[in-house]
Amino acid sequence: MPENESTPAQTGLENLLHETRAFPPSPEFAAQANAKPEIYGQAADGPAFWATQARDLISWKKDFTETLDWSGAPVARWFADGQLNAAYNAVDRHVEAGNGDRVAIHFEGEPGDTRTVTYAELQREVSRAANALAALGVEKGDRVVIYLPMIVESVVAMLACARLGAPHSVVFGGFSADALRSRISDAGAKVVITADGGYRRGKPSALKPAVDDAIAPKDGAEASTVEHVLVVRRTGQDTAWTDHRDVWWHDALESADVQHTPAWVDAEHPLFILYTSGTTGKPKGILHTTGGYLTQAAFTHKNVFDLKPESDVYWCTADIGWITGHSYVTYGPLVNGATQVIYEGTPDSPHQGRWWEIVEKYKVSIFYTAPTAIRACMKWGEEIPAKYDLSSLRVLGSVGEPINPEAWMWYRRVIGGDKAPIVDTWWQTETGAIMISPLPGVTATKPGSAQVPLPGIAATVVDDEAHEVPNGGGGYLVLSEPWPSMLRGIWGDLERFKDTYWSRFEGIYFAGDGAKKDEDGDVWLLGRVDDVMNVSGHRLSTTEIESALVSNPLVAEAAVVGAADEVSGQAVVAFVILRGEHAEEASTPEGSATIEKTLRDHVAKEIGPIAKPKKILVVPELPKTRSGKIMRRLLRDVAENREVGDATTLADSSVMNLISSGLNTPS
Ligand code: WTA
Repeated sequence: MPENESTPAQTGLENLLHETRAFPPSPEFAAQANAKPEIYGQAADGPAFWATQARDLISWKKDFTETLDWSGAPVARWFADGQLNAAYNAVDRHVEAGNGDRVAIHFEGEPGDTRTVTYAELQREVSRAANALAALGVEKGDRVVIYLPMIVESVVAMLACARLGAPHSVVFGGFSADALRSRISDAGAKVVITADGGYRRGKPSALKPAVDDAIAPKDGAEASTVEHVLVVRRTGQDTAWTDHRDVWWHDALESADVQHTPAWVDAEHPLFILYTSGTTGKPKGILHTTGGYLTQAAFTHKNVFDLKPESDVYWCTADIGWITGHSYVTYGPLVNGATQVIYEGTPDSPHQGRWWEIVEKYKVSIFYTAPTAIRACMKWGEEIPAKYDLSSLRVLGSVGEPINPEAWMWYRRVIGGDKAPIVDTWWQTETGAIMISPLPGVTATKPGSAQVPLPGIAATVVDDEAHEVPNGGGGYLVLSEPWPSMLRGIWGDLERFKDTYWSRFEGIYFAGDGAKKDEDGDVWLLGRVDDVMNVSGHRLSTTEIESALVSNPLVAEAAVVGAADEVSGQAVVAFVILRGEHAEEASTPEGSATIEKTLRDHVAKEIGPIAKPKKILVVPELPKTRSGKIMRRLLRDVAENREVGDATTLADSSVMNLISSGLNTPS
């Protein structure tokens, strides 16, 4: 293992394995559950199991004859000669089946405005939006970037693209103009869909200026591929306007026909590209296609959350800018005909009970969120959720990072009334859908463990030599068989796809996560083993933040680590060496505070506020191996106030003393 990586054992989570509590499903829950224990046996026949799911859960315009073609590994082809349309599956077929009056979306804006959209209304709006995009020249295969707040139009925009066979690339609204520019350009987008702004913590927060910036001519950059910007009016704030290029969403939809025939696409037609952080500075455009992705999104949504579309009210708190918003806000729930809640704002606006107020108001029965949010709620105090009637909740989900047993127990007791099963779901942008999770009517759940690969999924833990570890052992999480919703590549970079995921172990997918198996063979996730951080469930690359820092004239060199943080899981801590002429400025407390602020703002501008370092420490040197690699593990020791570990492979062993003694704020 390279010296700058951390082993799972160093992540300090081994104590998890002493967790012995288990919560079997109640007989009542088990009796009514969608998934029964037999499902694991049924899945033993490999890809044929997925063919059955694809036919049961998805409507095909043309049925497929071939299930899996792995001859072009590591690029899989699932159901390749079948044809379908994702938006038709998510919307139209429910209307055709007589469920047009069912509510698809209960929307709750942050300021308290609400909107209810039935499947029939959704069909009309998606069709109009598809016609509007077509009128702007969007054709099958063209890429559309979506940069929107969490509003109904976000889902409509994604589905309108899918209806046309135009892959969408959603960029999280918290990313900066620069981050947006690089994604637009990598995807070669023809149209951007955005809004004047969205509401965030009680205030309108503009989005359109970032789009204007991202597509404006820039020295050294090629002219933007974007021909039109479609703008949703959400906040009504003043918005700069470029005639001919910019078009109001409401104008475009008003003049558009409500009828639209979906474009039938091959199962392997690209559905979307979603950029995510990797171990290098350049984000990766993860490519997902249509048939396999929809099949696994629908299958997991139905079985992991035990969805009953006629009676459940489902709420996933993720933003559509992340994969969770793609698979468990837009595609999974709508393909399954669910009624769901979409909420625009933060959990504490205008008060810390906002989420629970929404659960009570809509009688939410299935709730899916991230451990970081649960930990924040724990901090605010359990008397807050106690004010609301949460008795409608019957399944709780967790995603994005390991959930510590304490937070898990709190979630179960305070939110789930000690009865709702918790499903801790492990998966990634790359896997497209949930891969490891308990099944709520089958598995006796354990606080802190994602436990079992889902039926049809081959996940295991291996050692350095790719040998499966025995129960009780630890190593790396891998996926040894192809799965329907697996990524089909990195947009425009097949080599990087092979290198990143398929070169560490021959022929098997390397997820980048450390994991252990307990004595029962259940899987415990232990965090990343590479240079990817997980801050509040969001993936950030250390290298990307380092390059942002060194692009500032103050900085000569930078090293970034993810340090353990009580609420956000990890927090970004940056160590910087200033350029000689600025070194003096950091010698006073005021000087170093100014430098810290300048650099934090700089990172926010380059990447986005989510990437801002929580702490920036000015140091005289960085610890490096003889081959020049930064030993982040030692910096993590400093950032987490631990005794510095084995430093024998340092090129200069005095560096750590220099760093530790020079720090004036080791809080
Ligand atoms: C982490 C989010 C532990 C993991 C769906 C993975 C988790 C990365 C869990 C993917 C979980 C996600 N337990 N760790 N239940 N879920 N992760 O692409 O490190 O944003 O590799 O996808 O989040 O993050 P991504």
